[in-house]
Amino acid sequence: MIEVWWARLSTQPIDATWVDDLDTVERERLAAYLRQEDNDRFLLGCTIVRRLLARRQQLPPASIRLDRRCPDCGRPHGKVRAEGAELSVSHSGDLVGVALHPGTPVGLDVEKVDTRLDPLDLARVSLAPEETEHLVRRDAADRPSAFTTYWTRKEAVVKATGDGIRADLTKLVVSAPDQPAAVLQWPDHNGPVQLVDLAPAPGHRAALAALTEEPIEVTTFDAADVLRFRS
Ligand SMILES: CC(C)(COP(=O)(O)OP(=O)(O)OC[C@H]1O[C@@H](n2cnc3c(N)ncnc32)[C@H](O)[C@@H]1OP(=O)(O)O)[C@@H](O)C(=O)NCCC(=O)NCCS
Ligand SMILES: [Zn+2]
Repeated sequence: MIEVWWARLSTQPIDATWVDDLDTVERERLAAYLRQEDNDRFLLGCTIVRRLLARRQQLPPASIRLDRRCPDCGRPHGKVRAEGAELSVSHSGDLVGVALHPGTPVGLDVEKVDTRLDPLDLARVSLAPEETEHLVRRDAADRPSAFTTYWTRKEAVVKATGDGIRADLTKLVVSAPDQPAAVLQWPDHNGPVQLVDLAPAPGHRAALAALTEEPIEVTTFDAADVLRFRS
């Protein structure tokens, strides 16, 4: 079972003492955010990860060792890694999500639907020709939401593998937004990938991928439960 923990910025009080549990890398990244909401989303992501692992390992959150090194450049902006757990973090709009499984690599992506975006413009670099055709056939008013469904499904997959947007998203073909989530083609990848949509809040799209043959079983939780108490 994959756990997905969601926090909502609009209702979740931010506790300044959470910063005490962060490591040097996290504090430096936190200090670099210019907008308060980016700062809050990052702090929430770090704190949820630390507390989930702390609970499982019966250790204080500050003693959890996390590795965020980017395989390309070594800077700490890569996928978050911890011993004994596979993790994926995503933030957008009102939501921060953390997916967790003991051994299967997972990828979580959430995006707030931005009705001002021009999906056909973005499609050129991120969608396969058949996906773009599907988008063109939709009413213009539906396109931002349909594009965001494509985007979160693809991002979830490339976050599970750790490729991120280095992957050529135009070659990763996923099912149409009105069909159940599935990877249809990805010649750049060997091995199984499972994909599901999640519906964490209105106005947002989210998807979860796992590198396994087994159908995904997801249980969602309210992160307020791990954020409420000092563990
Ligand atoms: C990170 C990424 C996969 C998704 O970004 P996004 O949709 O804007 O943001 P999300 O909130 O959904 O995801 C951010 C989280 O993804 C994780 N992440 C970062 N790189 C990742 C990767 N390669 N694979 C999986 N997860 C990754 C981090 O945990 C990050 O959370 P944090 O900021 O709290 O540390 C995408 O921006 C990306 O691929 N970036 C890297 C681009 C790159 O390779 N640049 C060159 C580096 S040298
Ligand atoms: Zn890098």
